[in-house]
Amino acid sequence: MIAICYTFLLSVLSSNIHFGHTDEGDCLKQPGDILFLVDRSGSVGEDSFQKCLDFVVNVSNYFEIGNDHVKFSIFTTEDNRMGFYFDQYNTKDQLIDLIKKIKNNELMSGYYDCFEKSLVHAQNLVFNKSNGARGFAHKILVAITDGQIYVGTGPKTLQNDDVIMFGIGASINGVNNDTIMRIASSPKHVYIVNNFNFVSHVTQSLINTSCNEMQKNPCESGKCVNATSCIWTGQANYTCICTHGFTGKHCDIDINECDSLPCQNGGTCEDKLNAYTCHCPHLFSGVNCEKDQCSLRPMDIVFLMDGSYSVDTSHFGQQKHFIKQVLQNLTIGPDDVLVGAVTFSTNTDVSFSFKSPFDVTQMKTAIDSVHFMNGVSFLGNAFQTVGNMLQMESRSRSKRIVVLLFDGMMSDPTEAKRMADNLINQFGAKIFVIAFGNDFYHEKAVELTGGVRENVLIHNQPIKFLNRLIASVSMTRI
Ligand SMILES: *[C@@H]1O[C@H](CO)[C@@H](O)[C@H](O)[C@H]1NC(C)=O
Ligand SMILES: *[C@@H]1O[C@H](CO)[C@@H](O)[C@H](O)[C@H]1NC(C)=O
Ligand SMILES: *[C@@H]1O[C@H](CO)[C@@H](O)[C@H](O)[C@H]1NC(C)=O
Ligand SMILES: *[C@@H]1O[C@H](CO)[C@@H](O)[C@H](O)[C@H]1NC(C)=O
Ligand SMILES: *[C@@H]1O[C@H](CO)[C@@H](O)[C@H](O)[C@H]1NC(C)=O
Ligand SMILES: *[C@@H]1O[C@H](CO)[C@@H](O)[C@H](O)[C@H]1NC(C)=O
Ligand SMILES: *[C@@H]1O[C@H](CO)[C@@H](O)[C@H](O)[C@H]1NC(C)=O
Repeated sequence: MIAICYTFLLSVLSSNIHFGHTDEGDCLKQPGDILFLVDRSGSVGEDSFQKCLDFVVNVSNYFEIGNDHVKFSIFTTEDNRMGFYFDQYNTKDQLIDLIKKIKNNELMSGYYDCFEKSLVHAQNLVFNKSNGARGFAHKILVAITDGQIYVGTGPKTLQNDDVIMFGIGASINGVNNDTIMRIASSPKHVYIVNNFNFVSHVTQSLINTSCNEMQKNPCESGKCVNATSCIWTGQANYTCICTHGFTGKHCDIDINECDSLPCQNGGTCEDKLNAYTCHCPHLFSGVNCEKDQCSLRPMDIVFLMDGSYSVDTSHFGQQKHFIKQVLQNLTIGPDDVLVGAVTFSTNTDVSFSFKSPFDVTQMKTAIDSVHFMNGVSFLGNAFQTVGNMLQMESRSRSKRIVVLLFDGMMSDPTEAKRMADNLINQFGAKIFVIAFGNDFYHEKAVELTGGVRENVLIHNQPIKFLNRLIASVSMTRI
């Protein structure tokens, strides 16, 4: 468990480093944020640790240090309080002073010997803009350790965050190669040092490799997973253009289309590739379960008012009031409810029909202006007119409703019954009867509804009627 920075680094740094091409001199000025994680486990002698810091100082001499070039950060693996971030200095001299401060730091307590924690710290706080990491700079992490440490998923997480990971395994007593391999981005990024004859070569290679990494087009390393293209915008900056349905910096996250909660009315959402499916509860349908089969839409509704003399003007006024209250609760529109109003006595008069471009306020005004006819009661003719209206103007998929407001008395009961059955059978209409007047003939009214007793209601309960209407149309599947 003895890291041997001392001997290793002495040999490393007393050797000269040569670059084959002048280009590589330039790469030492590239913007790079390089973090050194230095093992300081109890078994590592204090002296070796000091030499590791000297090593970092010596390495810094090869790079152009500065805010537009390379910045270093150093932390010990045992105590995240021992170290400094990228933005705690500007110049190389200031950097070296900070490294000296670590060397002189008496703080030896607070050990937790957990390399993974150092990696989490590296990811969350060191490579973090709020601590001076530069978004455009290449990110490099150099771990110097004997490898006698626990390594979990930390290295993969950092690599996924575009951090280039080097592992230097250094110990005269043998290195846990396996651990070092798991830290490093690739076998090319691993240096195991227990034969000092090769040390200078290893160091040269380390600097060579990091230089190459800092000059690379990051798109070439195949960072984008499910993308149509990768665009290099300079230095470490690149953008993956994701194929539909994917997101994340590397386009490796399948967008959960269900996250936007598209399914309404209690539908359950199933995520698919660039799509979703809503599984709708009973009585709901549509892509987003938005279609409420219990709703009143679409519905064509005709109010048929009894203006015959047996209904007095006061009851006629109550009919108007009832219709206006019901209108209040309907959603009028071409996709929702369309309304017609017809008055009958000896003759039949259409006040407005489905095609009248009326809103609720205008309809109420039209209802108010209907005259009391004060004649006899030819309901059969009136039903005939309603039938014509349904035939000519009703929408093909709408539910058809006829609301007859009357006192139960008619001059043509047989014809009225026949025409009522015709509306029910030929047009699929549902007929409701709202009872007005003092002497209401209930059984006759039930006959006009096709025998649906619940469809005969009394005039002062518009809300009860609406509820009955909703219940009734929801039983009709369209
Ligand atoms: C750092 O470099 C100097 C001279 O370049 C050398 O004398 C010293 O031993 C090196 N330190 C380490 C720890 O390698
Ligand atoms: C970066 O640092 C800030 C301030 O300490 C913190 O709020 C933020 O969560 C950090 N970012 C990440 C990705 O951890
Ligand atoms: C790289 O992206 C950062 C933001 O992340 C931006 O500030 C910087 O200007 C970009 N650099 C280049 C060369 O595109
Ligand atoms: C560790 O790596 C070094 C250098 O590559 C090698 O000499 C040594 O045999 C390896 N040890 C093990 C246990 O794999
Ligand atoms: C560094 O790179 C140059 C040019 O690519 C090469 O000639 C030299 O051998 C490399 N040095 C090491 C130690 O890999
Ligand atoms: C997304 O990427 C993975 C891994 O490359 C691949 O297996 C999968 O087929 C891709 N999916 C699509 C929709 O391109
Ligand atoms: C009718 O409208 C009133 C007032 O806007 C509302 O309180 C009531 O719930 C509605 N009733 C129905 C059945 O839509």
